Amino acid sequence: MKTSKATAVAPSNIAFIKYWGKKDEVLRIPENGSVAMTLDKLTTTTTVEFGNDYQDDEVLIDGEVVVGKERERVVEHLDRVRSMAGINERARVVSKNSFPKSKGLSSSASGFAALTVAASNAAGLRLSERELSMLARLGSGSACRSIPSGFVEWVAGNSHETSYAKTIYPADHWDLVDVVVVTDSEKKHVSTTEGQKLAAGSPFYGVRLQGIEEKLILMKQYIKDKDFTAFGELCEREALEMHAVMLTSSPPLLYWQPATVRVMQAVQQWRREGLESYFTLNTGQDVHVLCERGIKKELEKKLRFLNGVQGIQVCQSSAGACLIGEHLF
Ligand code: PMV
Repeated sequence: MKTSKATAVAPSNIAFIKYWGKKDEVLRIPENGSVAMTLDKLTTTTTVEFGNDYQDDEVLIDGEVVVGKERERVVEHLDRVRSMAGINERARVVSKNSFPKSKGLSSSASGFAALTVAASNAAGLRLSERELSMLARLGSGSACRSIPSGFVEWVAGNSHETSYAKTIYPADHWDLVDVVVVTDSEKKHVSTTEGQKLAAGSPFYGVRLQGIEEKLILMKQYIKDKDFTAFGELCEREALEMHAVMLTSSPPLLYWQPATVRVMQAVQQWRREGLESYFTLNTGQDVHVLCERGIKKELEKKLRFLNGVQGIQVCQSSAGACLIGEHLF
C-alpha cells in the first residue's frame, strides 16, 4: 500500500488573557486577542498516516478508538488537510496525551496542534508557522497558540488569514512556573465549544470586551518587564472575569468543584502570608497556580496537602509544535 506518515508533538498552553466568545463560529475567529504560554509537561504526540488501503479514517486516542462527535472533529480536520493537499486517501491517526483529556487542561489545544503538524506533513504540505497556526485554529481555537514557542499572542484578526498566534517572547525569557492542579477526574459536562456559544448571552460579556484591549497591552508589558506581582494580579482578575461571564450565561456554566475553590482560596491566603502565587482557570475544575521558580517546591508541597487535589504537574514554557522521528505505529 502507498502510504505517507508523520509524527508531531505539541504542548498545551495556558492563557493569561483569555479567549471566550467568537466573532465567527465556523472560522473560529475570536472576539478578542489572547496571550498565553506553552506548557512543557502537558503534551500530545500524534502520528498520522494517509494510505490508499484505509477504507475509512481510524482515530485512536490514548489507546481507545474514538467515535461520535470527537471523531467527527478529527475527520473534519483531516478533510481540511486533504483538500489543501489535493489528496483523497483516508488516514490512521494515533494520539497519546501526557495527561487526561477533556478536562481543564486544554487537551484540545495540544491535540489539534499536533494533529495539524502531523497531518499536513504526512499529506506532503510544507506550511509556514503562521499557516500551521491558522489551520490549527480551525480545529480548536486555542490550538493556534500551541504552534509557536514560548510566550505567545493570538492576534484576533477578522478573517482566516489574519487570525493566528505568534511568539512574543521565547520560552527562556522568564522562569515563570505553572503548577497545574488537577482537582477532579470527572469529564466536564459542557464542552468549551458549546460553552463559548453562550458567552454573548451574559450581561457582562459586553463589559468584558470594552476593557480587553487595555488588558492585552498591560499583560504584554508585564511579561516584558517580568513584573510578577502586576502580572499575577491581572491573571487572577482576568480568570475571574471570564468565569463571571460563564456563571451569568444562560444556562449558567459552573465549572468549579469544591476543591477548585479550596485551591483558589488557599493561594490567596498563602499570598497574604508572604508566599506569592496567583491562580488562573480555564473551563473545567482544575487550577493553574502561577509562581516564580524560587517557590515552586514549597508551593507544590502545600498544594498536595489540600483536600481534593488529585494530581500536580509543574510546567514551564516550552518549544511549540514540531515533527519528531519516532512514530506511534
Ligand atoms: O479552544 P477551546 O475551544 O478549547 O477554548 C479554550 C477556552 C479557554 O481555555 C477557557 C480560554 C483560553 O483562552 O484558553
